[in-house]
Amino acid sequence: MSRKVLIAGNWKMNGLIKGSQALAKEIALATKSLKPQAEVLVCPPFTLLTTVKKALRGSRVMLGAQDCHMEEKGAHTGDVSPYMLKDAGCDYVILGHSERRTDHKESSALVKAKAESALKAGLKVIICVGETLDERNKGKALSVTEKQVKDSLPDGATASNTVIAYEPVWAIGTGKTATPQDAQEVHAHIRKVLAQKLSKSVATRMRILYGGSMKPQNASELLNEEDIDGGLIGGASLKAEDFMTIVSKAK
Ligand code: PGA
Repeated sequence: MSRKVLIAGNWKMNGLIKGSQALAKEIALATKSLKPQAEVLVCPPFTLLTTVKKALRGSRVMLGAQDCHMEEKGAHTGDVSPYMLKDAGCDYVILGHSERRTDHKESSALVKAKAESALKAGLKVIICVGETLDERNKGKALSVTEKQVKDSLPDGATASNTVIAYEPVWAIGTGKTATPQDAQEVHAHIRKVLAQKLSKSVATRMRILYGGSMKPQNASELLNEEDIDGGLIGGASLKAEDFMTIVSKAK
């Protein structure tokens, strides 16, 4: 497979300076002793970006944020622009996570606008999509994710600046994981949609991560699937040992 595995930790709204410094340092150190099979990324909350950036210095672990505004600057109290993230040393930004789509009513159109702005600022984007349990039970998993991909994908998306994360909402933080076969089915479908929307060659090279209770016990079988190119890890990314065990499973 020509796609390099990406293992990304989504710390969500967790961590204070002290513990996070130690966590980032442990991840940086452990990554040094691993063969570079996988790219490693951590996405702490905004308040920890600078601290974590310093703790990662000298390692190949990359830094990402969990959201950004679509504007460059201005009167948007409480928001953070992609240019600020770039300035703080970020390589990536996660956009359209289901928790933001739910908590902040983010639409795919907004996710697309944010992603286009992030690309302009020189960041890479991870666009999250995924169906709810109700949608899956109604047989709509493929159509819902297809629509989210089509509507959220930024203009200018390439295989090197854009990553898709398939995160079934019912699997996030619940301990329930999609079976490797179910996940593979959606991933293969997303790749087909990317081929239609972009091109076959871009779709073949673009990475599609799985997220939703990925942990040391199930990472291998998920990562073994043909179209699963890495993971977006929530809970298990908060313990260096668990996170690094997942990283070590990368082919
Ligand atoms: P989880 O979260 O690994 O805790 O299920 C994944 C995510 O929401 O990115």
